Amino acid sequence: MHKTSSHRALVTGANRGLGLEFVRQLLARGGRVVAGCRSPAGADALQSLAAAHPGRLHVLTLSVDSDASRLAFAREVADLFEGLDLLVNNAGMLASREQFGELDGQVLEKTLATNTVAPLMLVQALAPLLQRGARPRVLNISSALGSIARADGFYTPTYRISKAGLNMAGVMMAHALNPSGIGVITASPGWVKTDMGGGDAPLSPDESVASLLRLVDELPGVPAGEFLDRTGEPLPW
Ligand SMILES: NC(=O)c1ccc[n+]([C@@H]2O[C@H](COP(=O)([O-])OP(=O)(O)OC[C@H]3O[C@@H](n4cnc5c(N)ncnc54)[C@H](OP(=O)(O)O)[C@@H]3O)[C@@H](O)[C@H]2O)c1
Repeated sequence: MHKTSSHRALVTGANRGLGLEFVRQLLARGGRVVAGCRSPAGADALQSLAAAHPGRLHVLTLSVDSDASRLAFAREVADLFEGLDLLVNNAGMLASREQFGELDGQVLEKTLATNTVAPLMLVQALAPLLQRGARPRVLNISSALGSIARADGFYTPTYRISKAGLNMAGVMMAHALNPSGIGVITASPGWVKTDMGGGDAPLSPDESVASLLRLVDELPGVPAGEFLDRTGEPLPW
C-alpha cells in the first residue's frame, strides 16, 4: 500500500459526481487537494469541504475545454504545490439520445475537446509538477463504452469515440512520462449513480472511487496507460 500517492492531488470536474467523491476521499486520507471546477462560487459542496479542511482544499476555476483556462489553472497549481503526486482527469460529458442522421458535429467537437483533448493537454501543462511528485500517477477516468472491441450498437457514439481517444491519449501520456517515473492508469469507474450514470446505476460514487484509489495505490511498477476496470482487470481496447 502506497498512500503517499495521494498526498498532493488534483481532481478535475470536482464539483459533483465522481469528482466530488474523489475530493472527499482524498481529504479523508489527510492529503492536500486542488479541486478544479467551472464555477467555484457556485460549488457549495466544495466550499463546505474547504471550510471543514482549512488549508487543505483549494477550489480553483477550470474549464477543461479552454486552453486559456487550463494554462491559468496550471499556473495557480504551481503556486500552491511544489510537486504533484496524483492527477485525476475526471471531468467529462456525455451527449444522450444521439441518432445517426441527426448527429451534430459541434457536439462531437465539444465532447472530444472535453473528454479527450483536455486530459492530454492538462497532463502536458502539469508534467513539470508531476516530475517533482512522490510516486506520481495520472488517473484518467475512461469508460467501458470506450472499448472498440465491445462496441455492439449505435448508441452514445460521440462519447464512445471520445473515450476510445482518451484511451490512446493515456498510452501516449505513458510513453512521454514513464521514463520520468510517472505512472499512467486509464480506468473505467463502473456504472455509477451520478447525474451522468442515473439512478438505476448499481454502484455508489463512494464504492467506485474507493476502488479506483485502491487501484492507484496497489498497481505495481510504473503503470503504462493500461485500460482497466475499477478492480484492475484489463478491458479490451
Ligand atoms: N457515472 C458513470 O456511470 C460513469 C461511467 C463511466 C465513466 N464515467 C466517467 O466518470 C467521469 C465523471 O462522471 P460523473 O458520472 O461524475 O458525471 P457528472 O455527474 O455528469 O459530472 C461531470 C463533471 O464533469 C464536469 N465537466 C464537464 N465538462 C466540463 C468542462 N468543460 N470543464 C470543467 N468541468 C467539466 C462537470 O462540471 P459542471 O457541473 O460544471 O457541468 C461535472 O463536475 C466522467 O469522465 C465520465 O465520463 C462515469
